[in-house]
Amino acid sequence: MTRRLSVAIAFLTALAAIGGLLGFQGGGSSPPAAIAAAEGAAPAPTPPQTATAWTAPDQEAAKLRAKELVPFVEAVMEECDLCRQMRLRETGLGIKEITHSYFLLDSPIIRKTEDLYGPVRFKHSKHAAQLKDCALCHHRRPLDAQAKETTRCSACHQEAFRPDHPERLGLKAAFHQQCTGCHQEMNKGPTDCLGCHRKNVPDHKELVKLPEKPQPTEVTEECLRCHKAAGEDMLKTAHWLWKGPSPYTLNRSKHVTHGKATTAVNNF
Ligand code: HEC
Ligand code: HEC
Ligand code: HEC
Ligand code: HEC
Ligand code: HEC
Repeated sequence: MTRRLSVAIAFLTALAAIGGLLGFQGGGSSPPAAIAAAEGAAPAPTPPQTATAWTAPDQEAAKLRAKELVPFVEAVMEECDLCRQMRLRETGLGIKEITHSYFLLDSPIIRKTEDLYGPVRFKHSKHAAQLKDCALCHHRRPLDAQAKETTRCSACHQEAFRPDHPERLGLKAAFHQQCTGCHQEMNKGPTDCLGCHRKNVPDHKELVKLPEKPQPTEVTEECLRCHKAAGEDMLKTAHWLWKGPSPYTLNRSKHVTHGKATTAVNNF
């Protein structure tokens, strides 16, 4: 392996660590955000490496909630959409009832047949605050008077084509229609697959095999065992080749015209 390739991957390793990939799956910041964080003087968090590593309590709770199976609701209260909207407004149901600011949608009902992606991160509070109408999404409630107005979708929408309830969409279709449908209608929010879905990245704690106290180059070599193409791509980037200015920074506030391959000289 060439030394340049090694250094390139060491850089990727650092980015991945900042992105929280190693030990903090499913909700780390996306690569562009990680890069932004690295550029904007914020101190890079040390990646958790041991079994007792720090975990994000909200994230752990969201993961557990995603796995919950709720009992199927047979009987649904019949009311028109507008009646429901008015009724909910009168009950004063609002933001204060929101207990979880975000959800990781990753239902075992869907997973049983399909698992192409990682969990979908849904910012519940942000949506509720912006849309100001709980009934837009919580469109039906169980007939049972004790049940919550905001019963989870998965209580009514489960497997597709249930013979006992052919009128109900399966859970995946219910999400796709409601989520993407509204985004299309309002022309806001993602409608492309990767706008909602993240790649299903396997848990690297199991994949990465390293000695007790690895040398930096050993880490790099280990990553390259599986990520050869990413390592080669890195060597062609303007960043690696010190070929500033980059099209990503031109005319931005952090616009830099100097690059080591152009005007600047130092002893790096
Ligand atoms: C507005 C957000 C949104 C968009 C856009 C979207 N999906 Fe989904 N998708 C979801 C949600 C939410 C689920 C349910 C996740 C769960 O509970 O498992 C889902 C589930 C799935 C699943 C089953 C779960 C899995 O991991 O395999 C597949 C497959 C899927 N979507 C494919 C697609 C494809 C292909 C596109 C683009 C054509 C797309 N989705 C666009 C939100 C979205
Ligand atoms: C953009 C759609 C949307 C809006 C608007 C919205 N929610 Fe939700 N809400 C959801 C989704 C999706 C879930 C997760 C459902 C699941 O896991 O099956 C949820 C879950 C909940 C839960 C948790 C239910 C449980 O049993 O764990 C509560 C409580 C809740 N919402 C309250 C509200 C309130 C109150 C409002 C209005 C202020 C509101 N929501 C607005 C989509 C929405
Ligand atoms: C109490 C049961 C119940 C809950 C909870 C529920 N639904 Fe439904 N949903 C239904 C029924 C019944 C239908 C069939 C047609 C109808 O009544 O509108 C339906 C239909 C739909 C449809 C088809 C289009 C439409 O509006 O009729 C979508 C999309 C949908 N639901 C999405 C969701 C999502 C997303 C959630 C969670 C935020 C949710 N549903 C929660 C019972 C429920
Ligand atoms: C009734 C309309 C509506 C529904 C239903 C809805 N969204 Fe959105 N969503 C929006 C709007 C409006 C925005 C734009 C917010 C912004 O950019 O300020 C948005 C933005 C987003 C974004 C990108 C920005 C962010 O806040 O993360 C994602 C991802 C997203 N929605 C996922 C979902 C998923 C998943 C569902 C279904 C569980 C859903 N949305 C249901 C209206 C909706
Ligand atoms: C045993 C094989 C293996 C090893 C070793 C490995 N990975 Fe991965 N990695 C994968 C697979 C498989 C994926 C998911 C498919 C993909 O995105 O290429 C992945 C995905 C990733 C992604 C997400 C890529 C994306 O496009 O979202 C990053 C970042 C990553 N790995 C970094 C690393 C780093 C850093 C190391 C070394 C510490 C490493 N990997 C070691 C197999 C491996």
